[in-house]
Amino acid sequence: SILKPIFYGSLLAATAAVGYGVYGLYKEQHPAPLPVETQSNKKKLVILGTGWASITLLKSIDTSLYDITVISPRDHFLFTPLLPSAPVSTVAVESIKEDVSTLIRQGSGKVTFLQKEALDVDPQNKKVIVEGDKAVDYDILVFSVGAQPNTFGIPGVYENALFMKEANDAVILKAKLKENLQKATELPAGSQERKDLLSMIVVGGGPTGVETAAELQDYISEEVAKWNPELAADCQIHLVEGLGNILGMFDQKMYTLAQDHLKKNGVALKLNAMAQKVVGNTITVKDSKTQELVDMKFGILIWATGNGTRPVTAKLMSRLPETQNNRRGLLINQKLELLGAEGSIYALGDCTFHKGLVPTAQVAHQEGEYLAKVLETRHIIDNTDNDAVKASLAKTIKDFDYFNQGALCYIGGESAINDIKMSKKIEFKLGGSFLSFKVWQCAYLAMAVTWRTRFLIACDWIKVHIVGRQ
Ligand code: FAD
Ligand code: NAI
Repeated sequence: SILKPIFYGSLLAATAAVGYGVYGLYKEQHPAPLPVETQSNKKKLVILGTGWASITLLKSIDTSLYDITVISPRDHFLFTPLLPSAPVSTVAVESIKEDVSTLIRQGSGKVTFLQKEALDVDPQNKKVIVEGDKAVDYDILVFSVGAQPNTFGIPGVYENALFMKEANDAVILKAKLKENLQKATELPAGSQERKDLLSMIVVGGGPTGVETAAELQDYISEEVAKWNPELAADCQIHLVEGLGNILGMFDQKMYTLAQDHLKKNGVALKLNAMAQKVVGNTITVKDSKTQELVDMKFGILIWATGNGTRPVTAKLMSRLPETQNNRRGLLINQKLELLGAEGSIYALGDCTFHKGLVPTAQVAHQEGEYLAKVLETRHIIDNTDNDAVKASLAKTIKDFDYFNQGALCYIGGESAINDIKMSKKIEFKLGGSFLSFKVWQCAYLAMAVTWRTRFLIACDWIKVHIVGRQ
């Protein structure tokens, strides 16, 4: 029958995929030994950050062409798309982290890693000042320090809210969630005090806020409700958004689907509600239609209202006041060169502001890949004496051309909304179904930067199905 070839075909494809994965994993874990270098006359390439832009660049470039130093306070790469899944153990925090020491060993050249925060850049003298007043010289600097959570100066946020940006944020939220659930068991069921403690407010209806609220709701409905239904009944997840809808990057049909789905699953959606201040365990929100101020009590407050500029980025802007005059991010040209320091500084990812480029991993990743090619061409240009060859090679450096592959967002209850662009003409939208969830899972597995993380994430997902979350 027809089923036989399909079965054997699928078996063959699955075996090939597993074989390829095992081979990838083996290669990752057994990097080739590096050649012993004597005196290096290579150009000094300094890369700030170990996030999406910098790690993609490192993975894509021939690391033997430059004398590369990576500087970052973070000794790991973080797979941010699954960070909201970590506080409730849908995936383990360790499964979405990859050590920089592993990543820098994948290429054919030596890469030095300095685990320090860059405090300042001196574009005139081509130096980066790092913690401990140490100066690091560069010929070419890649500035990719990302962004930090934006609080818009709203009082009380830093003191009372948790964030969802770094791996440690997931660890802190997990601990707080467990602590509150435990404390709540000691309070009378149904009491206001217990409900206030179990009130979890997420501010910001962008994808970070939505995915965090969705994961928390999954945890309450699928885990807490299993072992203590009375406790689950007193839990409430709130999602507070200042605008009239959540997920502004999706079309109306998709965000309406997401809103209805979240509500159906038990998330209390508060739209047109602008957070104004936080005092202790109370947040005040203003209804933008009626101007009415409403106080909401919480046991956990998660702040997810988008990106702000890091101090080192603001400092760099202040060093180039003639060209860097946009508070939202560093201004770059079409070749990702920093305006005011063209030729010596490139800026990538969330620390930049450029028309048509949104602060996403997708953009940072494509920028990293693009810059790897640019720097490889520059290396050939720098090592050629022939001016005609230099000029013709320089012409081959094309402008960065971003291809938007669409957006995906997990909305809870094994469902997602996906707006996928396969090419400039082929696009499909899928939302609200189990299939949308499987597509979302496959897309993120494909996006993982190492086979190790890909393997661990897949195992975590299987584990949730078999033994639930802890
Ligand atoms: P980052 O990845 O943030 O990396 C910045 C690096 O710079 C870090 O290593 C940091 O430690 C380092 N650094 C900071 N300060 C300094 C300093 N002073 N000196 C040196 N180094 C420094 N995008 C998507 O496309 N799809 C998604 O599904 C998605 N999900 C997300 C989920 C969450 C919870 C979050 C927070 C973001 C998500 N994003 C997603 C957005 C995506 O993570 C960012 O756009 C992306 O990380 C930007 O890459 P980057 O390299 O510019 O910055
Ligand atoms: P965001 O900027 O996308 O959304 C922030 C939301 O907070 C906005 O809807 C805004 O109206 C709201 N807001 C701002 N101030 C507020 C206030 N005082 N009170 C109430 N609401 C307020 O931020 P987010 O979600 O952190 O995303 C940052 C970037 O990372 C975006 O570019 C996003 O596309 C990307 N990202 C992508 C993901 C995905 O593709 N699945 C997941 C997470 C982030």
